[in-house]
Amino acid sequence: MKEPKEVDGIYQADNPMPTWWQLVWLISIIFSIGYVVYFHWYSEWPQNVAYENEVKEHELKFPAKTKLVAVADGSNPYRGDAVAIKEGEATYKQICAACHGPTGEGAVGPSLVDKDWIHGNTDKEVFENVMGGIGPERQKLNRGGMPAWNGLGAEKVYAVLAWLATKNETLVKAK
Ligand code: HEC
Repeated sequence: MKEPKEVDGIYQADNPMPTWWQLVWLISIIFSIGYVVYFHWYSEWPQNVAYENEVKEHELKFPAKTKLVAVADGSNPYRGDAVAIKEGEATYKQICAACHGPTGEGAVGPSLVDKDWIHGNTDKEVFENVMGGIGPERQKLNRGGMPAWNGLGAEKVYAVLAWLATKNETLVKAK
């Protein structure tokens, strides 16, 4: 083959890439192998590892937020706690009032201040109904059921129920 090749008066040379360029290329390849090994087997950078670490960190900071009560009969530890009651009222107005009415008198959701309880009237039962929600298989009113509120965490839900207990004496500690 004739070098350099000519086409229409334009010459195509066949010069090798400069040594410094080839070196950079070679070093990148070597680096990439080391990087892959480090990334997958030794680092904390993969998403799943980073995620698990963050979950662990979070659990250290906020231990067992959705755990059931420590009280043996399942009653609300915040009953009568003035601070919790106030917080609970605020949470109720912010979240629950949309369906249960601003004072708990009921709207889409049933009244929470009368003596009729569809799904139980003890702290334990009501806590579980709120945390776990009342899905289509358990709902009685046929109004779309009640969403689960475990995302709020046990403390906030207990606070709401502590407030509710001041409004409704038929919400009892235990059977
Ligand atoms: C999207 C509307 C909606 C929201 C928001 C909502 N609920 Fe409900 N809730 C319902 C419905 C509907 C029912 C009735 C379920 C059924 O058909 O049995 C219900 C049922 C309940 C019950 C059972 C009542 C009984 O008589 O046994 C409790 C307790 C309750 N809700 C508390 C709460 C609390 C506390 C909040 C706020 C954290 C809340 N709900 C937020 C719709 C809602």
